[in-house]
Amino acid sequence: MRTRPLKVALLGCGVVGSEVTRIMTTHADDLAARIGAPVELAGIAVRRPDKVREGVPAELITTDATALVKRGDIDVVIEVIGGIEPARKLITTAFEHGASVVSANKALVAADGAALHAAAEEHGADLYYEAAVAGAIPLVRPLRESMAGDKVNRVLGIVNGTTNFILDKMDTSGAGYSEALDEATALGYAEADPTADVEGFDAAAKAAILAGIAFHTRVTIDDVHREGITEVTAADIASAKRMGCTVKLLAICERAADGESVTARVHPAMIPLTHPLASVREAYNAVFVESDAAGQLMFYGPGAGGSPTASAVLGDLVAVCRNKLSEATGPGESAYTQLPVSPMGEVVTRYHISLDVADKPGVLAQVAMVFAEHGVSIDTVRQQGKDGEASLVVVTHRAADAALSSTVEALRKLDTVRGVASIMRVEGE
Ligand code: NDP
Ligand code: HSE
Repeated sequence: MRTRPLKVALLGCGVVGSEVTRIMTTHADDLAARIGAPVELAGIAVRRPDKVREGVPAELITTDATALVKRGDIDVVIEVIGGIEPARKLITTAFEHGASVVSANKALVAADGAALHAAAEEHGADLYYEAAVAGAIPLVRPLRESMAGDKVNRVLGIVNGTTNFILDKMDTSGAGYSEALDEATALGYAEADPTADVEGFDAAAKAAILAGIAFHTRVTIDDVHREGITEVTAADIASAKRMGCTVKLLAICERAADGESVTARVHPAMIPLTHPLASVREAYNAVFVESDAAGQLMFYGPGAGGSPTASAVLGDLVAVCRNKLSEATGPGESAYTQLPVSPMGEVVTRYHISLDVADKPGVLAQVAMVFAEHGVSIDTVRQQGKDGEASLVVVTHRAADAALSSTVEALRKLDTVRGVASIMRVEGE
C-alpha cells in the first residue's frame, strides 16, 4: 500500500458534508485498505467558519474555497455546496489544478453537465456524481457502466425524497402539506430552498441526468417537463384512494418506439396501490429501468439525508482515488446518440379529471361529447350529486397530452362546467 496519502478538499460541510467528514474520519483505515493508499482531508470550505460542527477538525475549516482548490496538492475535490455558482467555478478550477471531482450537485450537473464533462476530459480528470440522483441508491454507475451493453428504453421512478415524504404523510397520517414539509426539512431531506423539491426542479434535474446517461444523449433540465406537488390537494389523494391508487411525484424518461427521440417529464401521478412504487414510503426513492436485454430492474433505497448521501459520495471517492492511483480515468460523458427531446404534448398517457358540473339532464352527454371531439376516449365516469351541483370524475384511456389539454380547455368553456377541480395523470397500469 502506498503510504503517501491522497489529499481531499471538501467544499461544504452541511447535511451531506458533515456526514462525509464523519465517515472519512471513522472509516479511514478501511478506506485506505480499499483504495490502496490513505486518504486525508486537507481542508473543508464553508460559508460560516464560527458555526459549531461536532466531529469536524476546526483547523481544516476555511472560508476560502478557491484557494483550497488551487493549492496544487489536492487529488480529489468533493463538492457538496450545491447550486450553480460558486460550485461550477470551483469545480472547473479544481480540474485546472489537477484534481478529480466528486459532486452531489444535481442542479449543476443537469444544467451544465456537458461543459463539466468536457473540462474534466480536457484535464484528464474524473467527474463522478452518484449522489446527485436518488441519494444512496446506486443508479448512475449501474446505468453508465453495468448497463452500457444493453439498450435502455424507459426509466421511471420516485427520485425526490422530500416530496415522497410529504405525499406519504398526507396520504397515511392525514398530515397537512406545510407540516410535512417542515418535518422533511428538519430531517435534512429538503434542498436549501425547498421550492426546488416541491416545485419539481430537483426531480427534473435528476430526470435530465438519468435520461442523458440511459439514452446516451444530452438532456438538460430545460428539456424536462416539470410539475411539482404544490397543487396536489387532500381531495386528489382521497379521489386516488377511491380508485385504488395513491399519488406520487414521478420522473419518467422514455425512448420513443421508433428510437428517434426521447421524452423526460416530472409530475404527480396516480398509481395503483398494487404497483411496487405505491409502497415506497417516507423519503425512500425507487426507480425502474426497462431495457431490451435485462427486462425490468428496480433500484430502491434511501433517497435523501446526510448519511445515505454520504454513502454515495464515499463510493465515488473510492472509485476516483483508485483511478488516480492507476493513473486512469473512469468513463466520461456518452452522448453520441444526440436524440431530440420531444415536447410534452406528444406524451401519451391516461388521465384522471375531476370536474364540478351542474347536476341536470344532458350534462354528462355534453361532457362526453367534448372528450370525443378531441379524440380522447373515456374509460370510466363517476358522478356524485350535491345540491344541484355534481362532482364528475372522468378517467380516460391513453391519449396524447396535447389532446387532453385541448379537451380541458373546451370543458372549461361549457356553461355547465363550474370548474376543473383537478387533472392528474394515471401511470403504472
Ligand atoms: P447544506 O445547505 O446543508 O450544506 C451546504 C454547505 O455548503 C454548508 O456547509 C455551507 O456552509 C457550504 N457553503 C455554502 N455556500 C458556500 C460557499 N460559497 N463557499 C463555501 N461553502 C459554502 O446542503 P446539503 O448538504 O443538504 O446539500 C449539499 C449538496 O448535496 C447539494 O448539491 C444537494 O443538492 C446535494 N444533495 C443533498 C442531499 C440531502 O439529502 N441533503 C441528497 C443528495 C444530494 P455553512 O455550513 O457555513 O453554511
Ligand atoms: N432534496 C432532495 C430530495 C435530496 O428530497 O430528494 C436528495 O437528492
